[in-house]
Amino acid sequence: MELQVTALVLSTFLLSLTFSAFAQAPVPKQVRIACGSTQTFNTTEGLWSGDEGYIGGCVGNITADRGKEAGFTYLRYWSMSDGPNNCYNITVPNGHYLFRFFFSYGDADNSNREPQFDVSLEGTLAYSLKPAWSQVDDTSYSDSLVFVDDGTATTCFHSTGHGNPAVVTIEILQLYDEAYDLGLGAENHRYLLNAVARVSCSAVKDAYGTSMNADPWGGDRYWSADFYKYEGTSVDYIDTKEPIRLANIRPQFYPEAIYQGAVITNYGGSVSYAFPIETSQNYSIWLHFAEIDPTVTAAGQRVFDVLYNDEVLFANVDIYDIAGGSNTAVVLNKTLLVDGKTLILKFQPKAGVNYGILVCAIEVYQVVQREFPTKVSDVWALNALKSPLGIPSRMGWIGDPCVPQEHPWDGIACTLDDDSWVIEGLELPSEGLKGTLTSDIASLDSLDHITLNDNMLSGPIPPIIGTMENLIQLNLADNKLNGTIPESIGNLAKLKDLYLQNNQLTGKVPANIAAGPVRGVTINVLGNHDLCGIPGLKACNPMSAGQIFGIIIGSLVAVGVVVLCGYVIYKRRENLARAHKIMSPREAPYAASHTRANAQVKDVQLTRFGSFTEQRLMSVSGGGSAPQSPRV
Ligand SMILES: *[C@@H]1O[C@H](CO)[C@@H](O)[C@H](O)[C@H]1NC(C)=O
Ligand SMILES: *[C@@H]1O[C@H](CO)[C@@H](O)[C@H](O)[C@H]1NC(C)=O
Ligand SMILES: *[C@@H]1O[C@H](CO)[C@@H](O)[C@H](O)[C@H]1NC(C)=O
Ligand SMILES: *[C@@H]1O[C@H](CO)[C@@H](O)[C@H](O)[C@H]1NC(C)=O
Ligand SMILES: *[C@@H]1O[C@H](CO)[C@@H](O)[C@H](O)[C@H]1NC(C)=O
Ligand SMILES: *[C@@H]1O[C@H](CO)[C@@H](O)[C@H](O)[C@H]1NC(C)=O
Repeated sequence: MELQVTALVLSTFLLSLTFSAFAQAPVPKQVRIACGSTQTFNTTEGLWSGDEGYIGGCVGNITADRGKEAGFTYLRYWSMSDGPNNCYNITVPNGHYLFRFFFSYGDADNSNREPQFDVSLEGTLAYSLKPAWSQVDDTSYSDSLVFVDDGTATTCFHSTGHGNPAVVTIEILQLYDEAYDLGLGAENHRYLLNAVARVSCSAVKDAYGTSMNADPWGGDRYWSADFYKYEGTSVDYIDTKEPIRLANIRPQFYPEAIYQGAVITNYGGSVSYAFPIETSQNYSIWLHFAEIDPTVTAAGQRVFDVLYNDEVLFANVDIYDIAGGSNTAVVLNKTLLVDGKTLILKFQPKAGVNYGILVCAIEVYQVVQREFPTKVSDVWALNALKSPLGIPSRMGWIGDPCVPQEHPWDGIACTLDDDSWVIEGLELPSEGLKGTLTSDIASLDSLDHITLNDNMLSGPIPPIIGTMENLIQLNLADNKLNGTIPESIGNLAKLKDLYLQNNQLTGKVPANIAAGPVRGVTINVLGNHDLCGIPGLKACNPMSAGQIFGIIIGSLVAVGVVVLCGYVIYKRRENLARAHKIMSPREAPYAASHTRANAQVKDVQLTRFGSFTEQRLMSVSGGGSAPQSPRV
């Protein structure tokens, strides 16, 4: 009994703790970046910081009226030399965010070329700036809802080869995780919602949530004025100053202001809205209503259908009935697959009811399935290889290697392995790479082919390559690789092609590699001068070049000495014979001096022979500077 009371007290205590945690309402994470600026400053929207240190690229002055109107002075742009992919990598807590961008051009890069480029969020392509985007407000602006699950909000600008990508502002504004729930549970994280339009149907001016006193958890959404209206009959607008129930509530915090005005029609009149879309995509539609017409006082007085083409999306919408009264927010949502280039939503009153339709606001989002990210260890390994290999910036090795699929890194072959991309090929032949191949390559454990042939790679082949058991092809031909061929490569069971020709490899071809052809492995190791041990290469000689050189000199000297000795002995015998023949015994003492004279002759001849030997040696060593080892 006592125990139960304690438990009750404890749980009450814990409950109150939980409540107090809620009471101290958490503050949404908000990052606002003024690109190209070095300043930190406040606006009505919040605190802005510059982007120094986030990223490379150039700073441009905004000259266009549009950018100036928005109150920004600078933009950041990336030229050819920065490479095709440039990313901001911003640390934020994991969560659900609205990413918002404002673009401007105005020839800030003095190229007189409006850039066309793509923007990706968390590796998924979200937005493409199409020709003439800079002429229109709506296309100079974009926002998307996306979950950050890896602690880093990554947003990349991808060049499409038309001008220099440029951006004025980036905002990353947190929403509640359950906001814009598509009803897919954990699968919600797999989708990115791109705002196509967010219309406040009665508004004559565009507005941000901040200017509508909306809760900061609303992500400061931008609501455009009523210019998506396509056609209508007996259309009118109404507004109210009455407070709206259920506005500005968790999780989506719609500003009350969007419900305090509406487009209406009189008896029988319908209204259509048209939104530009990409064909055969899923779109999520959120419709906002509040019965703000004081003359509607009961359910059944205003009833209408919402249609897409001839398909009824919502039938018999009776706002008063759903809300249980007037001045109360009602939100309906539906996701549908849309064909064609335009999504037309029609609000059509039911026959026989007294009132026409009423709509306060419309949101349309493109639902984009998110890309799977590349396996973390593969990304890490490629980043580690990038600088030693000497990868130039034009290859765009920034961001995720495989995604967005429209903008992968150059020279990378990716394949999807369950829920992540893995690197299966490193394909960089004839790219003028001047670096070295480091052992980090072995962390790419799904690699089945490496084609780095015809570059200027130097240094050794890392022996750890012999542990990359998925390798089928290893082509390092026509480089300047030196050192020996790692024996471990011969143990790779799946290896089919080994091309190491025309390098500076030395030593003996390991026996297990030499035996490769027997196992059906194609091998080419020719054109490595100091490599030996298989047909086509020189025979393996245990002696070094120096030793061979020594032996040549030694032999020459030995031959010389033998010849000389023979000559001396021959001469001496000849002289002696002559002396015996000519000299009388009394002349005998001269014999000694003759012999001395002969000794001098011998000295001279020895010297001459010596210089002859030197010449021979010089001709040997002259040829020997190019390795004079026996050719095969
Ligand atoms: C911006 O405003 C906040 C709160 O209003 C204040 O704490 C901060 O110091 C201001 N920062 C700058 C750079 O003005
Ligand atoms: C931007 O304008 C300022 C003066 O208005 C000038 O000093 C600066 O050089 C300009 N910067 C660029 C990148 O054109
Ligand atoms: C649209 O949604 C359906 C149902 O969720 C899905 O099967 C389909 O692949 C989606 N189509 C596109 C283009 O995203
Ligand atoms: C959106 O619609 C789905 C399906 O009708 C529903 O399950 C979900 O609760 C709705 N979301 C919100 C926030 O009203
Ligand atoms: C972003 O930066 C963080 C921290 O510096 C790093 O861990 C992460 O790998 C980076 N991500 C990308 C895609 O560059
Ligand atoms: C390989 O070449 C590099 C220079 O590129 C040199 O420093 C190194 O000593 C050479 N290694 C061998 C084993 O010849």
